[in-house]
Amino acid sequence: MTDEILRVRGLRKAFPGVVALDGVDFDLRPGEVHVLLGENGAGKSTLIKALSGAHRPDSGRIEVDGSPADIRSAADAERLGIATIYQEFNLVPELTVAENLFLGRPPRRFGLVDRRAMERAAAELLARVGVDASPRARMADLGIARMQMVEIAKALGRDARVLIMDEPTAVLTAGEVDTLFEIVGTLRERGVAIVFITHHLEEIPRLGDRVTVLRDGRSVAEVPADTPEDELVRLMVGRPIDERYPRERADAGAPLLKVSGLTRDGVFEDVSFEVRAGEVVGLAGLVGAGRTEVARAIFGADPYDRGTVTVDGAALRGGDVHAAMEAGVGLVPEDRKGQGLVLGADVQENLGLVTLGPTSRGGIVDRSGQRDRAAGIAAKLNVRMAGLRQEAGTLSGGNQQKVVIGKWLLADARVLILDEPTRGIDVGAKVEIYRLINSLTASGHAVLMISSDLPEVLGMSDRVLVMARGRLTGELPADEATQDAVMALALAANGTEHEHPERSEYEDGDA
Ligand SMILES: Nc1ncnc2c1ncn2[C@@H]1O[C@H](COP(=O)(O)OP(=O)(O)OP(=O)(O)O)[C@@H](O)[C@H]1O
Ligand SMILES: [Mg+2]
Repeated sequence: MTDEILRVRGLRKAFPGVVALDGVDFDLRPGEVHVLLGENGAGKSTLIKALSGAHRPDSGRIEVDGSPADIRSAADAERLGIATIYQEFNLVPELTVAENLFLGRPPRRFGLVDRRAMERAAAELLARVGVDASPRARMADLGIARMQMVEIAKALGRDARVLIMDEPTAVLTAGEVDTLFEIVGTLRERGVAIVFITHHLEEIPRLGDRVTVLRDGRSVAEVPADTPEDELVRLMVGRPIDERYPRERADAGAPLLKVSGLTRDGVFEDVSFEVRAGEVVGLAGLVGAGRTEVARAIFGADPYDRGTVTVDGAALRGGDVHAAMEAGVGLVPEDRKGQGLVLGADVQENLGLVTLGPTSRGGIVDRSGQRDRAAGIAAKLNVRMAGLRQEAGTLSGGNQQKVVIGKWLLADARVLILDEPTRGIDVGAKVEIYRLINSLTASGHAVLMISSDLPEVLGMSDRVLVMARGRLTGELPADEATQDAVMALALAANGTEHEHPERSEYEDGDA
């Protein structure tokens, strides 16, 4: 069949110590959505980087419209009609939306950049993807969802015939995902071929036509998008996973973290709750509800105006991360690139960042102890790497996230706050992270888990708190927390008419 727009045969690419692609075959037809599925480190991003000119394969063949293509640069890919939206965006945050859309090829008049024409054309493109953003807005001020839409608009502006998206939904809310899927549907009808990477299996039948599964750098299957989830999991992981959310409840002990009346004017108000030893408390809500802000305030990363945070009965001074860490509070931040990881440092150094203290002996850093602990947690989380000395920045997206989590698991924080902990993490590795959460609570630690992944919140929390517009709007014990109940609270316009979580069921004792 030659109606394929793209055909890949036997593609290989090795990095020092890792074979990222080990003979990949992949076909793409016009007007199809083709999902690339695989564990963290399976080679998905590497494959699309080969298609978009960011990496040169060591061997193998890429054909476009039936002819061999030598894609050496982004410009080559663009000439062939291939546009890519990377896991890490390619936008320039300091420039405006219009400048980003026409980066490198602004409309000119008499040799000068014609700003008015550029902004008009930008407005048209933005309207086509239905994104509400001014062409003059600074990219950095848009927020991730709208940045992504701008990336799509940029691809459209270049008349892409192949649009490649690397985990676009990882950072989107449910509503934004719907919008994205509508756009994808429209593009597909127009004959654009779409390559879509996602770790959210439930998206696949909604989206796609076909799925290519990669495992350890090889394409192991090509199946229709309506293949049952269990089967997809078996293909990508190599074994079935029977329990996706293996929460083992521990007996809840004394309150370890107590937050009362926490207020940051204009950001969140009068937030009060407790997390007891042995508990996993989920914090649900829509993006923008103020969950991350509350987490950062508890951790001392941001100041607050009123209220108190106590850990094991001792009040923390606001705005002091060191004091919070000393008291045993840890935070796995949602933005791993900005706050969680030192990209230029290696895996071992990153894993040791918060544990240098505990692993020093007599003031001397205990290097071999540090290495053993790092190796242990990396193995538990199945971090795919050439070795502990690999630079964190060259790990795959999901493996970077595992390192951020591993660092805090090693730190043995008594109160661990996880902000979107499994974003970008594959189904198998998620289960491992949940098991580690279980072992934390089994040893009397307290976990506060912020997540936009509702099945995860419902599956792993003993209680669910819900925030909307900077306030807690309610609390549900695990057995009453359903998607609908949580969503109703998350959409509550105003928290005041709801029961205040301070007086909630668990104080009567559920242990
Ligand atoms: N520039 C690089 N230098 C060294 N190793 C690399 C580089 N880029 C990728 N790798 C390695 O290649 C392998 C495949 O990585 P890739 O990013 O393609 O995975 P992925 O399937 O996209 O995973 P994820 O789901 O986590 O995003 C990983 O082991 C990764 O560490
Ligand atoms: Mg990737």
